[in-house]
Amino acid sequence: MARIVTVIGTRPEIIKMAPVVKALDRLPGREHVLVHSGQHYDLMMDRIFFQEMGLRAPDHQFELKDQPPHLQVATTMRQIASVAQDADLVVVHGDTNTTVAGALLANKLGRPLAHVEAGIRSFDRSMPEEINRIVADQLSNLLFAPTETSRGNLRKENLTQGIQVVGNSVIDALIENTRIARKRSTLLRRLGLKKRGYLLLTFHRAENVDDPERLSRALDAFEGASKEAGLPIIFPVHPRTAKMLKAHGLERRAAAIQTLRRMEPTGYLDLLALEESAALVMTDSGGLQEESCFFRVPCVTLRENTERPETLSLGANVLAGTDPSRVLEAVRRQMDVPRDWPNPFGDGTTGLRIAGVVDGFLR
Ligand code: UD1
Ligand code: UDP
Repeated sequence: MARIVTVIGTRPEIIKMAPVVKALDRLPGREHVLVHSGQHYDLMMDRIFFQEMGLRAPDHQFELKDQPPHLQVATTMRQIASVAQDADLVVVHGDTNTTVAGALLANKLGRPLAHVEAGIRSFDRSMPEEINRIVADQLSNLLFAPTETSRGNLRKENLTQGIQVVGNSVIDALIENTRIARKRSTLLRRLGLKKRGYLLLTFHRAENVDDPERLSRALDAFEGASKEAGLPIIFPVHPRTAKMLKAHGLERRAAAIQTLRRMEPTGYLDLLALEESAALVMTDSGGLQEESCFFRVPCVTLRENTERPETLSLGANVLAGTDPSRVLEAVRRQMDVPRDWPNPFGDGTTGLRIAGVVDGFLR
């Protein structure tokens, strides 16, 4: 029986791969093995998503706590080698250290590789994620591109074989879970929030939070954005950011911004509820740029570039970096933008389409 080995390990991989994993599980006559690298491990960065999305437990769960990037890759390769050894197809998603470890391992073992979310590019090679994406794409036999733009990026890197434009499985996850979130999430009520009565912020990218100067300027920007909009900011804090605020001695500065309401990372249903009702999303997350576009909530991206340019051309999103005056300007502009753009990321059938292509590949 043909054996598919899917490798995941971080919050966005769990969320976006849940629909794909479920579709691969249902393929008749195929064995599907789910492997978790352990890159993310806190309850609220990991297990909560399995519970909320009804995703089965991994067949193999590894531990990777607190390792530096090179050891995340090396350890993951070593730990999953015996599982991937006889795979007929290894499947990875996105752009993390788990992704690149799975991709390199498949290549070194001489096993075929599929990459979900292939071909997205920020064209910024200083980002670890950009290198991870390029490596995974270059090594893949099946490249599941979310949009025609991503297919075009692959062509420019001389990749022409095995590309399928299938949309982004973020939409599958959104369609399935937004209904559930509307029924089950009580977070807005608990926080006393009204529709469009707050800005939602997430901020965790290494290039933004690891540098004390940049993180400190970003706090100034958050304070300015809140004043400009006349609204509080709801800020579920990623563990990397929590660590860096502490390490850089910026916790008191953050606490002094009274309109910045920091909280633990939320589960997926609460995050969807927060996103759908926000006046505006400010983020450096890839996933939130896509999700806010789906909800027709304007986005300000706190980065200098994005690998989701579709959102920019629709007017759903603008790039603002972290300079306070630019962020303020972007918030002003996005608060008034007409919310009528279409969703460029597919129709929610990405998981099924991927499973269909995988099935054909294994015949
Ligand atoms: C990783 C991805 C990034 C993605 C993000 C999603 C890489 C290179 N980066 O970044 O592309 O956007 O995941 O959230 O793979 N930590 C905890 N608990 C956890 C998870 C992490 O405390 O459950 C801490 C780790 O100990 C580490 C820090 O957060 O010190 C960063 O974690 P890591 O997985 O290395 O990178 P992310 O910043 O999460
Ligand atoms: N998310 C969540 N709770 C949070 C923050 C984010 O459930 O507190 C979800 C969000 O809805 C999206 C995904 O996590 O689906 C994005 O993950 P992240 O920003 O960590 O990674 P990126 O998309 O930047 O790779």
